[in-house]
Amino acid sequence: MNIEEKLKAAILLALPENLSKKVRLEDILLEKPKLKNFGDFSTNLAMLKQHLVSEDFANPRELAESIVEQFNQENSDIEASVAGPGFINFRLNDRRFWQIFAGLATKEDELFPQNTQSQKVIVEYSSPNIAKPFSIGHLRSTIIGDAVANLYQAMGYQVFRDNHLGDWGTQFGKQIVAIKKWGDEEAIAKSDNPVAELVKLYVKFHQEAEQDEQLNDEARLWFKKLEQGNSEARRLWQKCIDWSLTEFSKIYQRLGVKFSENDGRGFGESFFEAMLSDLIKQLMKEDFVKEGEGGAKLIFYENDQYPPLMIQKADGATLYATRDLAADKWRLEQERYQGKNGEHPIIINEVGSEQSLYFQQLYRAEELLGWYQKNERIHLKHGLYRFVDGKMSTRKGQVIWLNEVLDKAQAKAQDLSGDEETAKVLSIAALKWNDLKRNSQLSVKFDWDEILNLQGNSGPYMLYAYARAKSILRKAKEQGIKVQQTSDTQQLSDAQQLTDAHLLVEPLEKEIIQLLANFQKIVKQSQQELNPALLCKHLYSLAKEFNSFYNKYQILQDSSGEEALLRRDFRLQLVAQVSFIIKIGLKILGIETLERL
Ligand code: ARG
Repeated sequence: MNIEEKLKAAILLALPENLSKKVRLEDILLEKPKLKNFGDFSTNLAMLKQHLVSEDFANPRELAESIVEQFNQENSDIEASVAGPGFINFRLNDRRFWQIFAGLATKEDELFPQNTQSQKVIVEYSSPNIAKPFSIGHLRSTIIGDAVANLYQAMGYQVFRDNHLGDWGTQFGKQIVAIKKWGDEEAIAKSDNPVAELVKLYVKFHQEAEQDEQLNDEARLWFKKLEQGNSEARRLWQKCIDWSLTEFSKIYQRLGVKFSENDGRGFGESFFEAMLSDLIKQLMKEDFVKEGEGGAKLIFYENDQYPPLMIQKADGATLYATRDLAADKWRLEQERYQGKNGEHPIIINEVGSEQSLYFQQLYRAEELLGWYQKNERIHLKHGLYRFVDGKMSTRKGQVIWLNEVLDKAQAKAQDLSGDEETAKVLSIAALKWNDLKRNSQLSVKFDWDEILNLQGNSGPYMLYAYARAKSILRKAKEQGIKVQQTSDTQQLSDAQQLTDAHLLVEPLEKEIIQLLANFQKIVKQSQQELNPALLCKHLYSLAKEFNSFYNKYQILQDSSGEEALLRRDFRLQLVAQVSFIIKIGLKILGIETLERL
């Protein structure tokens, strides 16, 4: 039980009898008092009107006074008091803080025991398209999806990380025609950016096709050949995949992102191709799947809740949706995705919000088919990037090459740090934090000054706070002081010893202890709300308080006397805890730390 839960339980025990029957633990809301010297927690419980009705109290303040009196009789570690018209404030005494401090976890698996959940989770993210640029939208998907997968893993879920590559579809007919007519395979293979060459060819195809209708027929023919397994078609298609994946894997490597499925490559759309004709046959047996005009096949929704979803075109071609349906059906059939008690997996698709309607159609279809229930399918959406820097603006037709964005971030970070390895880590931290620090559904302002700002809410700020903490610990070690290091077995200071020494806890220390103690709860909440921004916010508060603490106190100053030593050791342990939590927190967000900066 964390401190807030303990406090709620104690409040419940202090309620007048009538009330204690009606109020449940979850009805009690604890907040931070607006002013710090009002205490550590506050509740408006006594001010909720319904509580007065059957009680013998004339007004909220009277009720609050009664609760406070009872509470203070029963608790010696926390002091309650009434404020204003009936707020109750609670102040933890120092002994309580020492206890919380001494009870902090010092090992990662204490905070996050692995594989405790029976249900499993598939997080599908990134999912760029073959022979197309890896877009900024795919970058967002990669960063957010990876963080959410980490959050689930931290909370004890077995997580499968999938990449639904766009590697199938009629566009490959056009791409093949373009390569054959105007392309030079050798030159593409040798170029710095083969995907850029493929994009150029694809654009050329569309320009030429405006003059020459026949090209489209040729493209359809080549896609047919591809579907039928024609070796030339397959060979060129495979080339497109290889060239693109070489490019994409450079990006994943720089971002430090890995997938677990299909040998790390992810199950792309083409993997499901062989299942499509059977799937369509099966779907046609349902009465909500019908043939439309001209012979296209569509899923229709009750009361036209959504527009119909096409699963096969009139010419027999399948679509994006057909392959998503096949993927999700296949996932249901794989033993390893099933929960320990036979639950279906939870499937999370991290895809831009522009595909909202599509995913609603898809999920509803999967419900109608009896495959998944509502809570088993989640569209984790993200908004757009807005570029502040004119040069990087997405003017019509202008492609942003992600490797160039990463290079630019790195060059800018190098101005801050000077050294190349550091700049790599710093720049990726900056980009990821910029993306994760706000609700992912909002669009992101892409502003280099904000992203790399050392003073503000930025990735580099977080890394500097961590490195600062580590440098204090190194100095202590050099001076021969033994400091509890994370993940070793040594215990934190004994709460009793600190209490007996009558050491007072300073307000900043209280703040930090509470932030440390709440970390696990925040990670859980971030996972439940699929919102890494909550974790960012918490870590940022911790880093800020730590920086104030670091600036205010000479932690390693010469200390003589038992009390000074006790305090110094406590503070060093606090610093070790801060570095431990920042490191794990950033790791969950997919951000690497640096020991020195
Ligand atoms: N390749 C798609 C795109 O770039 C995203 C795929 C998302 N995942 C899915 N299961 N549909 O728009």
